[in-house]
Amino acid sequence: MCGIVGIVGNQPVAPRLVDALRRLEYRGYDSAGVATIVSGKLERRRAEGKLFNLEKRLDEQPLDGTTGIAHTRWATHGAPTEANAHPHFTDGVAVVHNGIIENFSEIKDELLAGGAEFHTQTDTEVVAQLLAKLRRDGLGRREAMHTMLRRVRGAYALAVMFEDDPSTIMAARSGPPLAIGYGRGEMFLGSDAIALAPFTNEISYLTDGDWAVIGRDGAYVFDLEGNRVERPRQVSQAAAYMIDKGNHRHFMEKEIYEQPEVVSHALSHYVDFIEHRAKAGTDDIDFATVPSLAISACGTAYLAGLVGKYWFERYARLPVEIDVASEFRYREIPLNPASAALFISQSGETADTLASLRYCRENGLKIGAVVNVRESTIARESDAVFPILAGPEIGVASTKAFTCQLSVLAALAIAAGRARGTVSQAEEQELVRQLAEMPRIMSSVLNSIQPTIEHLARELSKCRDVLYLGRGTSYPLAMEGALKLKEISYIHAEGYAAGELKHGPIALIDENMPVIVIAPFDRFYEKTVSNMQEVAARGGRIILITDEDGARASKLPTMATIVLPNVGEIISPMIYSLPIQLLAYHTAVFMGTDVDQPRNLAKSVTVE
Ligand code: F6R
Repeated sequence: MCGIVGIVGNQPVAPRLVDALRRLEYRGYDSAGVATIVSGKLERRRAEGKLFNLEKRLDEQPLDGTTGIAHTRWATHGAPTEANAHPHFTDGVAVVHNGIIENFSEIKDELLAGGAEFHTQTDTEVVAQLLAKLRRDGLGRREAMHTMLRRVRGAYALAVMFEDDPSTIMAARSGPPLAIGYGRGEMFLGSDAIALAPFTNEISYLTDGDWAVIGRDGAYVFDLEGNRVERPRQVSQAAAYMIDKGNHRHFMEKEIYEQPEVVSHALSHYVDFIEHRAKAGTDDIDFATVPSLAISACGTAYLAGLVGKYWFERYARLPVEIDVASEFRYREIPLNPASAALFISQSGETADTLASLRYCRENGLKIGAVVNVRESTIARESDAVFPILAGPEIGVASTKAFTCQLSVLAALAIAAGRARGTVSQAEEQELVRQLAEMPRIMSSVLNSIQPTIEHLARELSKCRDVLYLGRGTSYPLAMEGALKLKEISYIHAEGYAAGELKHGPIALIDENMPVIVIAPFDRFYEKTVSNMQEVAARGGRIILITDEDGARASKLPTMATIVLPNVGEIISPMIYSLPIQLLAYHTAVFMGTDVDQPRNLAKSVTVE
């Protein structure tokens, strides 16, 4: 949700700021801008839309200056126009911001009453206007920054430049992440370590409430009371990751095809394939004794958690309370302090998930984080971290992170089952054997289903609505299929528990409505087939995703049947993820949408 970068350097910084923005574009791509100080004057270039528009603008009107800040925007307040693009300037102050200033209208009213003139519809402009006013009132730069921070409320990561100090950037964090990067004779600031990877691997993260004064030779960090604080420096691993598409058209396609490899890497961390045992990987959460588990997450990560709920309840007989984080955080759930809580997040920065985590922390629960970004806030605030080891996921639609989250949750549920005496040694060996088979089966599925999927995707691209149905762990998968399709192809789609069909959605069925039924030949198969009968009886067009046994047993006419190999029940959600991801991907490609950066979305959601 907006990317921020800053450099206090000793050579022109604009090209490097844009390079860093490119690595942050996943956070938002509504507009972008860069500001520097040239001969004692603030200068900026901004452009609506994707980063290449800003690059074009900079080609036409290059920008000098050795200190600068830059921003890529995901609009919250104000349309994604050039006027609303950051950096915002007021009287010698430049500001870029990620987050929301919640009391902006109150501050704005005061400033307007004092004669200020606003030029944008953003909440961010109040920060620039307030700083400018505090300077006019005679405050020094640091004093003004500190006073402003005690006045604003909300979630923010801020970078500020003052025209009268061309070799300093100030920064502040309350919520969204912000990292300081240490170079040689140069210093950096960025929303994440990946943005800073080309410049330095030595970074420190600001903690909530921190603000910093960053010069060419180092940084001073203060807390909200104004006391000097030290934040540990660490060596970031981000530089090790290659961020390119390889031979693929899109990052999403690359990430779908990477799954056999990354899932195998993740599993090797959580499963001992020689002893045929799952590893809990931590002593911080004692699955043997916890009376229950709370799980919270957003979007695709929530759906991974929902599959996890089925597994923890079935294999470990561990009751699971689960909700989307935006509801969990406000429901005032009575929680047992002896319980544990798991938070699932690819980015590790999602604001609602983090707030749910803090709610559980206040209630005394042990906290576990299933995250991709190990240096993230959610990881840092947890007692136990379960990395999913998927590598950077650049496509905004989550794919490989989902199957890695599932793999980690499956291993944890088995380990919990053993610890609680609900999974026997023989059962554990069988479940581990299934997990061991998964990467190979994923490869063979990816190599074989493409032609059927492409053909179907052409049909789906002509539809207005699509329904997905599933039972058991295929129910969250039905919702994930619908989410994937709508977010990248913009086709309206819904995922339902197959048994719920007759309680409402069946009214939608007609000959124009494709219904994608996810039905492995498992203990739910016959029930799901009965629901398919109900669809067929009303002229609905069925796309059945099943296995060889399921295809043989099905007597119903379908628009198409995608046949996967017969697989063990615990790995079926990971295997069945592949056709639903590819179906969404190819439909979007046919429709010509921006697959990796679909409209209105951003990869890291650091606002409520
Ligand atoms: C959908 C998708 C989102 C994220 C959600 C949570 O494809 O990617 O629904 O799953 O925004 O993000 P993280 O996992 O970073 O907390």
